[in-house]
Amino acid sequence: MRLVLCLVTLLLSFVSTISANSEGDILYGFRTRLSDPNNVLQSWDPTLVNPCTWFHVTCDSNNRVIRLDLGNANISGSLSPQLGQLQHLQYLELFQNKINGKIPKELGKLKGLVSMDLYDNKLQGQIPKSLAKLKSLKYLRLNNNKLTGSIPRELTKLSKLQVFDVSNNNLCGTIPIGGPFGNFPIKSFINNSRLGGLELPGRATYHFGC
Ligand SMILES: *[C@@H]1O[C@H](CO)[C@@H](O)[C@H](O)[C@H]1NC(C)=O
Ligand SMILES: *[C@@H]1O[C@H](CO)[C@@H](O)[C@H](O)[C@H]1NC(C)=O
Repeated sequence: MRLVLCLVTLLLSFVSTISANSEGDILYGFRTRLSDPNNVLQSWDPTLVNPCTWFHVTCDSNNRVIRLDLGNANISGSLSPQLGQLQHLQYLELFQNKINGKIPKELGKLKGLVSMDLYDNKLQGQIPKSLAKLKSLKYLRLNNNKLTGSIPRELTKLSKLQVFDVSNNNLCGTIPIGGPFGNFPIKSFINNSRLGGLELPGRATYHFGC
C-alpha cells in the first residue's frame, strides 16, 4: 500500500512538473541531468515560485530568465532540449565543465541569445544548423570539445556574430565564407584534423575530408 501511494505521489508530481512547464521546471529538468560534485546548484529549489533567486540564474524585471552562468563549475552531464524554451535567455555560459552529449538543435529557438559559451567541455556530435536562427548572437564559442561534422554554412547568416571559435574539435569540411566569417582569425579554426581551407567560390558544395 505504501509503495502504491509512493508511486501515485511520484506520478502526480511528475505530471504537475510537465504541465506547469515554467522556466524553473525547465532549469530543474536540466539539473536532474547533471552531476554536481561542488554543489553549485544547491540553491536550485524547484518549490520556489520562480528560479530568479537561484544562484547562477539571472532574471529581468519581469522574472524571465535572461542568464545562466555556470562556467567553470565542475558539472558533468548533458544539455536538455528543453533549454531551448527559455524564451528570453541572452547568455548561456556553460564553459569549462565536463558536459557531454550533443548540442540540442532546440537551442536554435533561443531568439534573444547574445552569447553561447560551451567551450572546454566534452560535447560530441554536430554543430546544429538551427543555430543559424539565433539572429542576436554575437559570441559563439564551441572550442575544445569533440564536435564532428562540418561547420554549417547557414551560420554565415548570423550578421551580428563577432566572435566564433571552433578550434580544438574534430570538425571536417571547409571553412565557410561570407557574412561574418570574413572577420574571424584562423586561430578560431585550428586543430581540427580534417577541416580544410576556405571554400572556393563556385565550389560551395565541395566538402573537404567529410
Ligand atoms: C571536480 O569534481 C571532482 C569529483 O567529480 C573532484 O574530484 C574535483 O576535485 C573537482 N574539481 C574542482 C576544481 O573542484
Ligand atoms: C586538439 O584538440 C583536441 C580536442 O579535440 C585536444 O584534445 C588536443 O589537446 C588539441 N591539440 C592541441 C595541440 O592543442
